[in-house]
Amino acid sequence: MVHRSEVRVGSPKIKKYLDQHLRKDRLRFVACGSVDDGKSSLLGRLVFDSDGLYEDQINSLKLDRKISSKKGKILDFSLLFDGLLAEREQGITIDVAYRYLSTKKRNFIIIDTPGHEQYTRNMATGASNAEAAIILVDARRGLLEQTRRHSFIISLLGIKHVAVAVNKMDLVDWSQKIFQCISDEYTSFASKIGLTQTLIVPTSAVTGENICQIGNNTPWYEGGTLLDYLENVKPDHKSFSSEFRMPVQWVNRANQNFRGLCGTISNGTLRVGQKITALPSDIVTTVERIISPRGDVDLANEGTAITLTLANEIDISRGDYLSGIKNKPEVTDQFKATIVWMDKKPLFSGRIYILRTSSGFAIAQITSLHHKVDLSTLISHSTKSLSLNEIGICNIALDRVIPLDNYKKDKETGSFILIDRSDCSTVACGMVEHSLRRAQNIIPFKVHLDKKARASANQQKACVIWFTGLSGAGKSTIADLVEYKLHSSGFKTMSLDGDNMRSGLNRDLGFTEADRVENIRRVAEVTKLMVDAGLIVLASFISPFRSERQFARDLLEEDEFYEVFIDTPIEICEKRDPKGLYKKAKSGLLPNFTGIDSPYEEPANPDLRLDTTEEEPETQANKIISFLKEKGILKWWL
Ligand code: ADX
Repeated sequence: MVHRSEVRVGSPKIKKYLDQHLRKDRLRFVACGSVDDGKSSLLGRLVFDSDGLYEDQINSLKLDRKISSKKGKILDFSLLFDGLLAEREQGITIDVAYRYLSTKKRNFIIIDTPGHEQYTRNMATGASNAEAAIILVDARRGLLEQTRRHSFIISLLGIKHVAVAVNKMDLVDWSQKIFQCISDEYTSFASKIGLTQTLIVPTSAVTGENICQIGNNTPWYEGGTLLDYLENVKPDHKSFSSEFRMPVQWVNRANQNFRGLCGTISNGTLRVGQKITALPSDIVTTVERIISPRGDVDLANEGTAITLTLANEIDISRGDYLSGIKNKPEVTDQFKATIVWMDKKPLFSGRIYILRTSSGFAIAQITSLHHKVDLSTLISHSTKSLSLNEIGICNIALDRVIPLDNYKKDKETGSFILIDRSDCSTVACGMVEHSLRRAQNIIPFKVHLDKKARASANQQKACVIWFTGLSGAGKSTIADLVEYKLHSSGFKTMSLDGDNMRSGLNRDLGFTEADRVENIRRVAEVTKLMVDAGLIVLASFISPFRSERQFARDLLEEDEFYEVFIDTPIEICEKRDPKGLYKKAKSGLLPNFTGIDSPYEEPANPDLRLDTTEEEPETQANKIISFLKEKGILKWWL
């Protein structure tokens, strides 16, 4: 390191050096680029030229050059950053890597993120706790969609300081014209997305031009070096206030007399005797003790893991949130947000996900998707779905209230991720805009009768029998027979199917995946109301997606929803083709037809599976009646 020569073990200067080192501030910056724009080489060069390498790293660099560098006499700096074997093999960076650099002025944490489009999620994750960013542009290729996407995400995440390295300038003969073109285009784009404090610098990782020292090849460039920018940039404060905040991670009941709330202070300071608010209950209480890893303390700062006890017993559990009494987060179950979609499976309005914030989890539904942003033009387009890497604005409703803030006010309580319920993968990251007050004014009226009372007036147990399967599988035929049998025995029933729902309530919906999600969402809500009315509901819908069938199930109690899979192979459905729709679909006259060019996700664990290839509908209907008897639904079957 620069300071290596000055610091010999035993040197009298060592104490002074260590003091200086400890007093230096720290900047976390994220580096983003596209494939092959030379990001690893540029970062390697930055660390090398700022003397940020240890002897063994320099040695390994030389060794690596002998083994694998294909670049002749020039050191291959990318080897310093493409550290993982898999990366080296493919020549790309595939994860988020954290590196450390210490210069005379500052310590740095470099967050190195992948360039490939499919790794945008890693880039967003890496950037989420950065204070500045370097964005790489290949001078030969100019601004790419990926450059705009990364810049947009950087801006969404509230990072204001961005250095754009127009790299590989040696390969365009240090052309001022090319640099100016890229610079103008980027400046215009950046100002539209609110990135105003940018440095645009012509660089070459091969020659080191303008990375740590101003080079001779760009006499027309009047700005400073990349390192100079990084050493002098002043990061903004992460939060809008110094008010205390802490999510409760665990309630420690060590013995009968001790009840401590454990967590890490995410903002501000906490003192013994301080008044704090517990959310969502909004009850004000007083701090009695603060126990840090060093024992009892009077005061604890941001970033400290503590256990605190309260002067009075109030009901607080894991996932609750503690805040100072001023500037507390809003407590809400509906809000508007910007999300970056990061999954191959698209996002559909109406679908259910798990939402995770700093304070815990909630079940979340995208209640409406307002629009998505075209990154080339920054124009908003209305949409019903978001595909991989698209950015959209939506409303989200939760199954419980949680503390949230506008992201610009507080990154911690203003950000969240969405998780797919089927495979627990992270599918989106989001930033809260504002809570929706409409929810706060909906106060359910307490009616005298509940669904149990209504069902027992009908002398039955209300439930939904949900038939799923391909078109022509036999769902409606079997459901019709079951309903007839139940009705003949005096049960109160209602039958719902695609054709009756789609000619009324769902007349506005077609057969795209987004419309089918919305179709089943509405149907599920209707079946819930009918169960509330005390009826036995027979719902026959293709309902091709597991996620929406699960949603319908989740709206009801465990013993109120039975999924019956009418498991008829597509070849048989095609042969039956009662409405002639398979024929039309096969000849291309009917697009988005289930099983032909639109997917069907079979139930993994249906309550009942019926094979219609061998047995008659009458036999199938009797099987369902027997099943319902077993489940105690038809107690007085005649
Ligand atoms: S779902 O997929 O959204 O659950 P739903 O059960 O409501 O579908 O409607 C299916 C019925 O609509 C079919 O039985 C068929 O009569 C008709 N239909 C018209 N177009 C299509 C299509 N593209 N795919 C499937 N069914 C279609």
